[in-house]
Amino acid sequence: MVNFDAFIDRRGTSCLKYDFAEERGLPGDVLPFWVADMDFRTPEPVVEELVRRCEHGIFGYTDIKEDYLRVLSHWMRSRHDWEPDMETMTVTPGVVLAICTAIRALTREGDAVLICPPVYYPFSSSVLGNHRKLVESPLVLRKQKDGTPIAYEIDFDDFENKIRDNGVKLFILCSPHNPVGRVWKREELTRIGEICKRYGVLVIADEIHHDFVREGFQHTVFAGMSREIDDIAITCTSPSKTFNLAGLQISHVFIRNDALRHRFQQELYAAGYSQPNALGLFAAKAAYGKGEPWLKELLVYLEGNLRKTKEFLAHHLPKVHLVEPEGTYLLWLDFSAYGLSDKEMDERIIHKGRLWLDSGHIFGTGGGRFQRINMACPWSRLEEGLSRLVHCFDR
Ligand SMILES: Cc1ncc(COP(=O)(O)O)c(C=O)c1O
Repeated sequence: MVNFDAFIDRRGTSCLKYDFAEERGLPGDVLPFWVADMDFRTPEPVVEELVRRCEHGIFGYTDIKEDYLRVLSHWMRSRHDWEPDMETMTVTPGVVLAICTAIRALTREGDAVLICPPVYYPFSSSVLGNHRKLVESPLVLRKQKDGTPIAYEIDFDDFENKIRDNGVKLFILCSPHNPVGRVWKREELTRIGEICKRYGVLVIADEIHHDFVREGFQHTVFAGMSREIDDIAITCTSPSKTFNLAGLQISHVFIRNDALRHRFQQELYAAGYSQPNALGLFAAKAAYGKGEPWLKELLVYLEGNLRKTKEFLAHHLPKVHLVEPEGTYLLWLDFSAYGLSDKEMDERIIHKGRLWLDSGHIFGTGGGRFQRINMACPWSRLEEGLSRLVHCFDR
């Protein structure tokens, strides 16, 4: 049994989450629940493999061999019912870099790129930073009569109108969706695919959260739905979220369409990237090959954190509404009942609560008055964070 309750001090490891509050203008003693990595040790077989590899002591140029592709392929087949041709895979040092590369490779300056906010904020910055036109089709939040949020949906009429009216060339899909926690249904993905096919829109499917799906929900690989959809898809995956390996910088981009893949690879090589990080490669292979039992235990632990968070909120912070997640380890909380501005809310959370969360407004249109909390940490830590929230809002 993995002990996910074990508290491991990450301070002093140049850890983005814990060691950079002051550099980012926050008090040094804030408790962080922002960036999406986990406060858990990576699976032991991965640690052992890294130690073994480090003891070898030579870290020269390293590249992918057949055995690596075999474990990656097995993971996609067994966990995601997807059998991509491994020849269509390009390794990149991160999904955001892959998204930026795809934007540059597959569109021109000034071209329109569509996103569905509130969504992972580097989507908009990748579009704007590469001088493309940002077009938004905001998700719609379905609510109960009393205003309690239920779930987010795509407004397909708006989605199609935005594509047609702006001559959109590329759509960036977040599946499962960060921060709202949707695991898109096959019917929804089919509609996205049909509309994008109809208007000649390419789709970057960022599926980095694909291994965090709750019981009762099913992740559908966008590219896996049909040959026609595979033809317009750029699928981004990575072991970084699943096994907490973000600092080792390895991700996989699958593009079946030869012409698109060629353009993507040309752009990547033009940026000067070729071989992957040696440690990332060994870690990823060990994780996909031997990490599944750990992942299964992790999902059970996260389910426990979610259940306890819901009980805590119902008891201590009934005005805060959690949008029930279907996937990811990120919680999306609605604070609008307090009637505070984003600035007032952030002030309270940071200075009174001594907490570092991701303020909803940074996720774009529709994100205001929400906060995102990362629940991938020992329950005792999450409970401490939630107690600090009580301190800033209800007393
Ligand atoms: C949807 C999504 N895509 C990409 C990333 C980051 O990927 P990478 O570190 O590989 O660039 C994250 C991290 O939070 C994410 O949530």
